[in-house]
Amino acid sequence: MDLDPKDYLKATGPFPVVLVSTLNGDVENVAPYAWVMAISMDPPILGVAIRNIRDTFKNIMDQGEFVVSVPGPELKDKVIKTAAALPRDQSEFKHADLTPKKSKIVSPPGVEECLTQIECKLEWAKEAGDHHVVCGRVVNVSICKELEESGIDATYPDALMHIGGGRNLYTKSGQIFS
Ligand SMILES: Cc1cc2nc3c(=O)[nH]c(=O)nc-3n(C[C@H](O)[C@H](O)[C@H](O)COP(=O)(O)O)c2cc1C
Repeated sequence: MDLDPKDYLKATGPFPVVLVSTLNGDVENVAPYAWVMAISMDPPILGVAIRNIRDTFKNIMDQGEFVVSVPGPELKDKVIKTAAALPRDQSEFKHADLTPKKSKIVSPPGVEECLTQIECKLEWAKEAGDHHVVCGRVVNVSICKELEESGIDATYPDALMHIGGGRNLYTKSGQIFS
């Protein structure tokens, strides 16, 4: 059978959910994003599709930096809490009981409870339909102790995955095989 082209997300696998943190003055904003993609290795560039009505988008355009933190499946409820539509001057960190982790290079903090924190500086943003593709140059990557000890070349962050296309379901990363 064929699907409506607008339902193409139902014909893809799940995508990892990340938490994108940004700054609005001294307000630490954090929200979940599932439309995340690797864009370039050299230079290292990471892309996120963000609607321009989001505080995250406005903050990145104003301040020029963001941090992508990768949560494990056990953080699902807190991740969903960060999607609350709070006024722009209120931090979702407190609302979701998450801890800001000081970044090494950029000003916005990452999320302490996450498996990895990827610090980015805005390269460019381009309108694409109802979202903007926001590309960030990766300037620092931190991984948690467990990943470091397990040997990052043989394993991977066991990320929380989002089954999109209006279904709002979640799954976990699968088995490793080659
Ligand atoms: C699992 C999940 C994934 C999401 N992915 C995206 C996304 O990729 N792009 C987007 O614009 N919004 C996405 N959203 C919606 C935003 O997270 C939500 O509107 C949030 O309130 C935006 O917060 P902000 O205004 O502080 O940036 C997602 C929400 C959830 C729960």
